[in-house]
Amino acid sequence: MGALENKKILLGVTGGIAAYKAVELLRLLQKAGAEVRVVMTKNATAFVGPLTFRAISGHAVYLDVLEEDPEGGIRHIAWADWADAVVIAPATANCVAKLAHGFADDALSTLMLAVRAPVLICPAMNTHMYESRPVQRNLDLLEASGMTVLEPDSGDLACGVTGPGRLPDPAFIADRLVKLLVPKDLKGVRILMTAGPTQEAIDPVRYISNHSSGKMGYAIARAAEYRGADVALVTGPVSLPFPVGVERISVKSAREMLAVMENRMERADIIIKVAAVADFCVQNAADHKIKKTEGAPVIVLEKNPDILATLGAKKSHQFLVGFAAETRDLAAYAKDKIARKNLDMIVGNLVSGPDSAFGSDLNTVTFFYPDGSEEALEALPKERVADLLLDAICARRRCRGGLDA
Ligand code: C5P
Repeated sequence: MGALENKKILLGVTGGIAAYKAVELLRLLQKAGAEVRVVMTKNATAFVGPLTFRAISGHAVYLDVLEEDPEGGIRHIAWADWADAVVIAPATANCVAKLAHGFADDALSTLMLAVRAPVLICPAMNTHMYESRPVQRNLDLLEASGMTVLEPDSGDLACGVTGPGRLPDPAFIADRLVKLLVPKDLKGVRILMTAGPTQEAIDPVRYISNHSSGKMGYAIARAAEYRGADVALVTGPVSLPFPVGVERISVKSAREMLAVMENRMERADIIIKVAAVADFCVQNAADHKIKKTEGAPVIVLEKNPDILATLGAKKSHQFLVGFAAETRDLAAYAKDKIARKNLDMIVGNLVSGPDSAFGSDLNTVTFFYPDGSEEALEALPKERVADLLLDAICARRRCRGGLDA
């Protein structure tokens, strides 16, 4: 969530049962490096005391448009100008209606008229209220005025009804706020990616695989989605939260991955193959579980298809990026793969020793290009590597007259 680092976020809290979740949201935003100020409506204070928000945010909570600003300014203007982004969570039907029609009868609605920064509205209310014509109309008006409206979750509501109206998880709200703050330099660009390991069956319950955690690939998919790309992620089995807003295609074996990639490559502008594809599969995979009473089995391996090389041979307009995980002679192997697999770029990393990229949150990579140039990066969080990789891809595509937005 690097985009929240040093950002000034205004958190509006209105009078719904989900107001308690705004406390966790505040903490998450702070943890991601943001400075947060809180504006509450009078009804919100019936659900959570302003003292809680004051103590955690480190700022007096803005409650009353008529009360004197301790800093001597005109608070509804000063705070509106101060904010890099505004999030209202939860936003009640009344709050939504007031914002849609430009009312200014309390601190929050008055301040909102002066806000120029991006706004995220998180409506939360009873399902029937949420689905009512006036609320839907008002939400449309907010979107038409440039605000982003988050769809509420479906589930059991405090009022006993089951349906849409729940405030989404604070981590999800924070994630969508990041997206709001990231410049959309990949808007409309179609990215097809792979990540994670593949699993090659020995029998229905056993397989051959590798230590790939999927973290690097998932970080790239998430960063690309924040930047506005349409991302499809073909993923081997990993235990990571799937990036919001990314299309998921789950596969197990290399052959399944190849079939999906061949099928979809035509529709992609950029293809990034991060997956650690197993080089071998089992030629004599058993249809039923191999029993130990039968003695030690002989497992015969055969080579898997090289997905990246197959795509490289067929590519037309696509910008094709591979990864090279090596335990030695990184540059020589990486350069050989660029040529052999017909790539536009390869990301090389060493995967042995204590600083191995496998499973780690850090990665030390070098970008190699077909013209022989290379760029070595220091050890960085995978989120940062993801953004620098996307920057490098954008720059190279621009050079060759690509379609960057
Ligand atoms: O040849 P090597 O496995 O080192 O190449 C790594 C790159 O090739 C990665 O981008 C990986 O996703 C891709 N690859 C592939 N199919 C294979 C093996 C590797 O697409 N069978």
